[in-house]
Amino acid sequence: MGRKDEIVVGLDVGTHKVVAVVGDVKTDGTVEIIGVGSSPSNGIMKGVVVNVNQTMEAIQRAVHEAELMAGCTVNAVYVSVSGAHLKSFNNRGVVAVQSRVVGEQDVERVLENAKAAQIPADRQIIHTVPQEFVVDDNDGIRQPLGIAGSRLQVNVHVVTALVSGVQNVIQCAERAGLHVLKTSAEMIASAKAVLEEDEKELGVVLVDIGGGTTDVAIFHNGFIVHSAVLPVGGDHVTKDIAVGLRTPKAEAERIKIQHGCALSTLVGEDEVIEVACVGGREAIERKRKLLCDIIEPRIEEVYHLIEREIQASNFADVLGSGVVITGGTSLLPGCAELGEDVLGHPVRVGYPRLGGSGGNGSGGRGGMIVGGLRDLVNSPIYSTALGLVLQAAEDDVGDNGTPGGNSRTAIRRNGSKGAPGGWVDKMRDWMRQAF
Ligand SMILES: Nc1ncnc2c1ncn2[C@@H]1O[C@H](COP(=O)(O)OP(=O)(O)O)[C@@H](O)[C@H]1O
Ligand SMILES: [Mg+2]
Repeated sequence: MGRKDEIVVGLDVGTHKVVAVVGDVKTDGTVEIIGVGSSPSNGIMKGVVVNVNQTMEAIQRAVHEAELMAGCTVNAVYVSVSGAHLKSFNNRGVVAVQSRVVGEQDVERVLENAKAAQIPADRQIIHTVPQEFVVDDNDGIRQPLGIAGSRLQVNVHVVTALVSGVQNVIQCAERAGLHVLKTSAEMIASAKAVLEEDEKELGVVLVDIGGGTTDVAIFHNGFIVHSAVLPVGGDHVTKDIAVGLRTPKAEAERIKIQHGCALSTLVGEDEVIEVACVGGREAIERKRKLLCDIIEPRIEEVYHLIEREIQASNFADVLGSGVVITGGTSLLPGCAELGEDVLGHPVRVGYPRLGGSGGNGSGGRGGMIVGGLRDLVNSPIYSTALGLVLQAAEDDVGDNGTPGGNSRTAIRRNGSKGAPGGWVDKMRDWMRQAF
């Protein structure tokens, strides 16, 4: 099978870890993962950079590891942005169609019109995702070009972020020697990697529970309708365990991952774990149930906050596909079951959607991770990084119809893409984000 031999890189700058994933885009749009690197992230709190040097070093370590595995040099990346400073709202744009049939310029104008919302000076728009176009009274249109009418409307989902929040992440990546091609809200990237199209059609909540943040994105009729970032995550659970069991944080993290469970009814009364004590005192035995009694209320609290977001979205009654949890904390046994109890919706753990080792041939379209190191990234902790890779791969497939040459570097021919390109590029971008 021919290859574009074009390399794309997703850089997930999380609160718990920084991950770099290198993908090789094939001619059919599928992506082979050829390099993965990860490094603990100490310079990020609740999704926000609090130490530039530590974050830069974590990025360098993750990228270096991925470079070694992939055998290429990484120069340009798609980067994730998170943090409770991300806010979203739905907006719409309306224009009069200029010559009876919707043309390219009408679409461009209506999308610009939809972006013209009042945003405080310290914030910037990071996504304007089209939901649907409406031509006269006909709604639900995804591709309006060529449709006859006199009034064109677009409904969009807008995500904004603090300018400083975005710039700090970009600065850390640039100091690490990387060119940032695009920034993406974490939940939009994770949703891309994890959700099935029919889930988005029927209505679904994507919840990415990381270390310091929990990202929520609600989809209905195939498009995103609500998103938010909550300043809570698995690292709060670790802290609770450290305090509750009087053990160092590193030991609390180990215990959580080895023995943790979010639903104490799943744990037997007689199960016992060994816990190291602070100050180097001798380890003691504790009941595993006690550990779960610490974890459960914190995760329950996270679910109650998610419930509030669902109610605030006004889409609570149309979530036919329930809830999909991803991110590291979704790996806690009992996490999905507890979610079902609290939210009253079916909950599944979202792993990145991976094709068979030879690809599953689903229409020959892109958006599928195949071959290579796919087994290595088969975990909810890689959802965001893989989503970024898929976004980058799709942009490539659309922008470049021909192979990008043999130089196995992750610099893309459209490397200056941060600046707005032609309207066709913009439109293609917008359409991809939405559908
Ligand atoms: N197997 C596991 N079981 C329970 N918790 C886990 C597991 N693996 C990771 N975690 C927790 O998930 C959180 C990190 O999630 P992740 O999605 O990797 O974070 P981030 O996006 O913030 O970098 C941490 O609190 C970590 O302890
Ligand atoms: Mg994350």
